[in-house]
Amino acid sequence: MIIQAVINVDLDGPRINRHVYGHFAEHLGRCIYGGFYVGEDSDIPHEGGIRLDVVDALRALDIPNLRWPGGCFADEYHWRDGIGPKDERPVMVNTHWGGVEENNHFGTHEFMALCELLGAEPYISGNVGSGTVREMSEWVEYLTRAGDSPMARLRAANGRSEPWPVRFWGLGNEAWGCGGNMTAEHYAQEARRYGTYCRDYGDNQLYKIAAGANADDYAWTESLMKQLGHLGCQHVRSTAFHAVSVHYYTVTGPTWEEKGSATVFDTGEYYTTMAAAARIEQLLAGHTAVLDCYDPNKSVGLVLDEWGTWFDVARDTNPGFLYQQNTLRDALVASVHFDVFHRHADRLVMANIAQTVNVLQAMILTDPDSKAMVLTPTYHVFRMNRGHQDATSLRVDFRTALPSRPVGDATLTTVSMSASRKDGRLLVSLSNLDATSAVDVEIDLRGGTAGDVAALILTAVALQDHNTPQAPAVVAPRAYDGVTVDGGTLRVHLPAHAFVTVSAGL
Ligand code: AHR
Repeated sequence: MIIQAVINVDLDGPRINRHVYGHFAEHLGRCIYGGFYVGEDSDIPHEGGIRLDVVDALRALDIPNLRWPGGCFADEYHWRDGIGPKDERPVMVNTHWGGVEENNHFGTHEFMALCELLGAEPYISGNVGSGTVREMSEWVEYLTRAGDSPMARLRAANGRSEPWPVRFWGLGNEAWGCGGNMTAEHYAQEARRYGTYCRDYGDNQLYKIAAGANADDYAWTESLMKQLGHLGCQHVRSTAFHAVSVHYYTVTGPTWEEKGSATVFDTGEYYTTMAAAARIEQLLAGHTAVLDCYDPNKSVGLVLDEWGTWFDVARDTNPGFLYQQNTLRDALVASVHFDVFHRHADRLVMANIAQTVNVLQAMILTDPDSKAMVLTPTYHVFRMNRGHQDATSLRVDFRTALPSRPVGDATLTTVSMSASRKDGRLLVSLSNLDATSAVDVEIDLRGGTAGDVAALILTAVALQDHNTPQAPAVVAPRAYDGVTVDGGTLRVHLPAHAFVTVSAGL
């Protein structure tokens, strides 16, 4: 083996918050209806209308949280429409997503039941764009207040006497766009006002997340941080917000109208996608730098609550439903993101892929015409990486220059890696982004000795390969023997376009 990259791994660092493996479910296309929820009359196995095959598949990912009900939908959603007897719930028009009728059959109680089935914490996005402070404040009371109060009584009348624990609370979504087209300064004031009336009841402590920037809009983040500066840290905890969010999608095409196909692409487009995905490093570093100026003690969290690939919708599907297939390319986009998340463990407290089922970079695709459910290549990356949740992020240094290639004006490093340690085990994730060439890397575990090595690989014949109901395991992980261990040195052979995880006792 001719070693082409030598990598040092230090054996201590910050904790990777398990919530960076978070998820997102919006009332958009077939994410909720047909994806998570099939209704109580369905012949697909379900509990209270919630699809059990989807629940089982997601439980295997240990998904830590689920964001709901949007997205853009959140700022048009009025929670009281989604409680009480289903046949009395009003119908609304989902103007953002396809103009379809929304019957509100999946509402607060159904979402909380879904979270309980998944073993995931709820992350609720409240309506700032078209809602009121009172409406949001009462939703918090409805969900989380015990004892006798107007909203606790209403909840009990709807069949749930005990409050639910709800920690994560979003103060609107994309306030610069679909969430109200506000200026940064105006929204920052609104976030403080809404945040003030979202109360902590009993032991329930909200973690309030302000709607943040689009991609590299650092000025937006700075406006939010300036508002917190006025309040002083202690006060912030009980009033305004605890974290700021940011959204970043991996988009390949030259214009929004031509984002490119999810499955039909050439090698040039593939590298453009990977360079766009790798940009997340620079974006998180940029927002972190702004936060560090105002909050050097890192008490304010950074939340990337929407990320993932966004391609043209699949042919013959509703353009407003954002349905796309998912190939090995998507898997590598995900693995690169996770490496970056692990490196930013000291500031990044949460991330949510958009979206979990049937929308954009999904984990699961359900067939509208049958009971079939398909696990995507992205699903397998979440599964292979789940040992990083709540592990110690280990610093990775490259002793030699890594292979790279020019992509437009950028340089794409074609080996991506991160490592963590938990419960006496090391987990190393490695991606070779090169479309055609294999690479051999040597990993020096400085001060550690590895044993009991087990490795998995996710790759495919072609980058465009994907899973379908007819061929559900074209892209699936398998045991991998391309790793050798010699005391504190691991040597890994990485085939072209492959994702490998190595787990070892340490
Ligand atoms: O995830 C799809 C949409 O993308 C969300 O509703 C919105 O927040 C973002 O623009």
